[in-house]
This record gives sequence, C-alpha cells and structure tokens, in this order.
Amino acid sequence: MTHLLKKLLIFLLLCTLLGFFFSTQRHAETTVHKEDWLKIQNDRKTRLDSICLSKNLTNLKRKLNVQVSRQLFVDENYKFIYCEVPKVGCSNWKKIVLLLMLNLSRDTFEVSQKEIHKTNLLKRLSSYPPKQQEELLNSFTKVMFTRHPLERLVSAYRDKLLGNEPYYSGTVANQIKALFRKGKNFTGAVTFQEFVNYIVTSNKEYLDVHWKPMSLLCDPCNIQYDILGKYETLEDDVNHTLNRIRAPEIIRYPDSKFYPQRTNKNLTTQYLRKMDWNQIQKLMELYQIDFSLFNYTFTAEMKMSFSG
Ligand SMILES: *[C@@H]1O[C@H](CO)[C@@H](O)[C@H](O)[C@H]1NC(C)=O
Ligand SMILES: *[C@@H]1O[C@H](CO)[C@@H](O)[C@H](O)[C@H]1NC(C)=O
Ligand SMILES: *[C@@H]1O[C@H](CO)[C@@H](O)[C@H](O)[C@H]1NC(C)=O
Ligand SMILES: *[C@@H]1O[C@H](CO)[C@@H](O)[C@H](O)[C@H]1NC(C)=O
Ligand SMILES: *[C@@H]1O[C@H](CO)[C@@H](O)[C@H](O)[C@H]1NC(C)=O
Ligand SMILES: *[C@@H]1O[C@H](CO)[C@@H](O)[C@H](O)[C@H]1NC(C)=O
Repeated sequence: MTHLLKKLLIFLLLCTLLGFFFSTQRHAETTVHKEDWLKIQNDRKTRLDSICLSKNLTNLKRKLNVQVSRQLFVDENYKFIYCEVPKVGCSNWKKIVLLLMLNLSRDTFEVSQKEIHKTNLLKRLSSYPPKQQEELLNSFTKVMFTRHPLERLVSAYRDKLLGNEPYYSGTVANQIKALFRKGKNFTGAVTFQEFVNYIVTSNKEYLDVHWKPMSLLCDPCNIQYDILGKYETLEDDVNHTLNRIRAPEIIRYPDSKFYPQRTNKNLTTQYLRKMDWNQIQKLMELYQIDFSLFNYTFTAEMKMSFSG
C-alpha cells in the first residue's frame, strides 16, 4: 500500500469515526484554547458521573453489553476507541472528500473502498476476545460524540425516512404505515408524526441505531469516556481529539461547500410544531437520560412552538 493511500485510509477512518459535520458557527472564530477545552471536558464528565450515580445507572459488576461493544470501533494505530452514534457523524460528504483527495473517479473509488474493508483498519470491539476487550477499554483513549436528541431525531427522519435507502424508505416505512394507517393506504411518505408514534411505542432496547438513545448505544455510565464531544462544538472537539490521539497533519476540514443541508434548530422546531404535547412528552421520556447526561435542554424556541 502506498504511503498516500495509507494516510488517506487513516483519514477515512477518522472521518468515519469522528464524524465531523460543519456547524453553522464555523465562521464564528470558536477556537477554544486547550486549558478551556479541558475544563469543559472536565465539567461534562463530572456532570455525567454525578447523574449516573444519582440515577443508579452505574453497574460495575455488569459485563459489557454485546450491543454496546458492537458500537465501539477500535483503532490500534492511534490507540483510540470511538463509540459510533449515527446522525452525529459524517455520512455523505466523506466520500466526496475522499474522492477529491484521491483525485479519483467513482469507479476507482469503489475499488479502493473494497481495499479499505480488506485492510481491517476498522475493527469493532466485539470482534476481540473478552479479556482483550477489557484491556483495550482500560488503556485506549475512548471517545464519544453526542448531539441534541431531538435534532438528531429530525435529522434521522429526514435522512432515512425521506431518503432513498431501500431498507428505510421501503421496509421500515412499510412497517410504520402498516401500524399507523388504518385504511392501509400506503401512498405517500411516512410523516414525522407517524415516525414519532412508531418510536415512542417501540421497545427502546430494540430501536434502530439511528434513533436509539445515545446513552443506550454507548453506555457512558459504565464506559469511562476520555472525551465527550458534542456536535454543537464539533470542530473544537474534533480538533482537540485529533491532537490528543496525535493524528497526522493530513486531517483537515473539508470546505463547507461540500457539506449537504444541515438539520438546524429552526428545522427541528418546525418539525416539533407538528406534534402534540402528548407526543413531545413521550419523546422527552424516551430521551430523558440523554438530555440529562449530556446536558441538553428542551429550548425556549422548542417550547414556544406549543404555546399557541
Ligand atoms: C481545526 O483545525 C483545522 C486544521 O488544523 C483548522 O483549520 C481549524 O481552524 C481548527 N478549528 C478550530 C475551531 O480550532
Ligand atoms: C450545561 O449547559 C449549559 C448551557 O448550555 C452550560 O452553560 C453549562 O456550562 C453546561 N454544564 C456542563 C456541566 O457542561
Ligand atoms: C441500583 O441498580 C441495581 C441494578 O442495576 C439494583 O440492584 C439496586 O438495588 C439499585 N439501587 C438503588 C438504590 O436503586
Ligand atoms: C486530478 O485529475 C484531473 C483529471 O483526471 C487532472 O487534470 C488533475 O491534474 C488531477 N489533479 C491532481 C492534483 O493530481
Ligand atoms: C392515500 O393517502 C394519500 C396521502 O396520504 C392521498 O393523497 C390519497 O388520496 C390516499 N388514497 C386513498 C385511496 O385514500
Ligand atoms: C430561524 O428562525 C428565526 C425566527 O424563527 C429567524 O429569525 C432566523 O432567520 C431563522 N434562521 C435560519 C437559518 O433560517
């Protein structure tokens, strides 16, 4: 493998793992100095620990849940473990960026993607023997990124239910329609209300990873993450994370023009406005632990959509 390709694989890895998205605050000069960033990290961890304790969510004796260990990706080169929270990551544009960087045609890219799978740079923690899993968790830098639960939900709905992945726009959508459309009229996309009704009436342990609560995906009360990143402060958190794991200089932010439409607060508020108070309360119940562990709030704007 050429040196460049290797670097690019690392880039892909980090892109997949760290999943940076462009935030609208990108131009707001948000660079946070290391000491300040460390203090924020410390505040986030302290908050999380105290809530885990007060809500009795810590269970030291329990073995690592297999579903959780499947969310954890291990990079042995840079000695870090990343918990994947879908919808807090880069999805489409990482390919564009890679294509640009490799200066390749799509065909060539498909080939090199197969190569990537072969190289085993990315391994799930679950693929290691149990004893080694424990060792890795104890010695590697553990990273988790979160996002406002309702913004993540709206983003998942738009991407998956309104998108054109056959599994979601077909199979999952039809399941939802079968459940909520009495007349069995399957025309038209699943509405956000139908989607929410489906989610709040499902068993949360079995929810799809795109809308399963982040705390269930990554179990932060039992895995001591070294870095608690946020989509809301993504660029800073990614930069400091990359420094911490000593990632190579080649890691750069792609230009925002390659960034597809972002689910912002306004959009989230618009979707929330379509729901009734009962649905909102059920959603808040489902994501309550996420809200409190990761310090998210049901904002004033969100509340205002229901005051009328
Ligand atoms: C993050 O790092 C990139 C590349 O080193 C730099 O261009 C960018 O300004 C940094 N962003 C922040 C918010 O520090
Ligand atoms: C929680 O969020 C609020 C508002 O966003 C912020 O001021 C506060 O510092 C955060 N607390 C922690 C522990 O992160
Ligand atoms: C905390 O949870 C454990 C099980 O996870 C249970 O055995 C224990 O009784 C709980 N303690 C309290 C104080 O609720
Ligand atoms: C990228 O490819 C195009 C055409 O395939 C070529 O014109 C261009 O010089 C290449 N750029 C680099 C940096 O290799
Ligand atoms: C089925 O629903 C769609 C939109 O939800 C509507 O446009 C259409 O008229 C309905 N068809 C029947 C047969 O009810
Ligand atoms: C968001 O909504 C507010 C008022 O509802 C409006 O002033 C603002 O321009 C909107 N921002 C975007 C990016 O659409």
